[in-house]
Amino acid sequence: MKKQTVLFVCLGNICRSPAAEAIFLDLINKKGLNDSFIVDSAGTGSWHIGKKADTRMRIASRKRGVEIFSRARQINSNDFEKFNYIVAMDDSNYENIIDMKSRKSLSDFASIKKIQNFRSVFHEIEVPDPYFGGDEGFDNVLDILEDSVSGFLDTIY
Ligand code: 4NP
Repeated sequence: MKKQTVLFVCLGNICRSPAAEAIFLDLINKKGLNDSFIVDSAGTGSWHIGKKADTRMRIASRKRGVEIFSRARQINSNDFEKFNYIVAMDDSNYENIIDMKSRKSLSDFASIKKIQNFRSVFHEIEVPDPYFGGDEGFDNVLDILEDSVSGFLDTIY
């Protein structure tokens, strides 16, 4: 079977989307679906290219048994024809992705989604940006993502 390809996207690619990527990888690993997916994450911004995920996010995630290994990169034009799904963490990321697609007349191949449309338990309409807040914000993001990423996987597989 052809692999499904999924790209999670936030602003900096050091907090939310690397966590979403790691949670998705952990879920497919536990379900024995590793060979069915290619998973990656990216940021709409370029500030943190090449950096590991934010230490606070890596620690919060590790406490839940999920390691985050990704290095930040910026979304690029090829991603729109490489990934089946481009999944934004908040409305602003979503708008930026849609805007980039139309400005550059990019491929219609990728289906562009908001992760929060797959939530079942949490009622936030976006995954809040934890970068400028306290440690509790990182746990909140992980709670929201565990719910919505699992809902996303159930929807596409
Ligand atoms: P992320 O969080 O989009 O979840 O990776 C942010 C990381 C860095 C910045 C903003 C948000 N920043 O402004 O540098």
